Amino acid sequence: MQPISPRVVELLNEALTFELTVTNAYFLNARMLDNWGLPRLGKVFYDLSIGEMKDADAYIQRILMFDGHPNVQRLGHIQVGETPEEMLRLALESEVSAVRLFNSAASECHALGDNATALVFEESAREEEEHADWFESQLDAIRATGVQNYLAQQVDVSVNPA
Ligand SMILES: [Fe+2]
Ligand SMILES: [Fe+2]
Repeated sequence: MQPISPRVVELLNEALTFELTVTNAYFLNARMLDNWGLPRLGKVFYDLSIGEMKDADAYIQRILMFDGHPNVQRLGHIQVGETPEEMLRLALESEVSAVRLFNSAASECHALGDNATALVFEESAREEEEHADWFESQLDAIRATGVQNYLAQQVDVSVNPA
């Protein structure tokens, strides 16, 4: 079916770009954390990466439903922290900017009269708020316990190389 306006497909593609970018960033963060011997935090980034990939899939499907072209070539700047703390800070920043992006896309869709797509963006905004909140809590925990204590909790010697 045709979208109410071609702008709707542009907005969906912007959302797709965000989801693909964080999928890659979180996946790389996960494997770097594993490599640093911090597999518990690595697992969280891994699971988040898979979640963001599923978000990307949903946007691809919606763009195709509107007979649009999903742009999987375009990626945003992939920010990789040099320390676990920086990874958490950068992830928080990107989730906060996603909430802003999705809220403004939802408003535009409402203004265009596409309430269903607006709802999709609103649901994304809510989900990314939860991610932002989780990253914020980790940074709070680091402030409260000290980074070394926090990182000691991310070690898991039961994750063996076999
Ligand atoms: Fe997402
Ligand atoms: Fe997210």
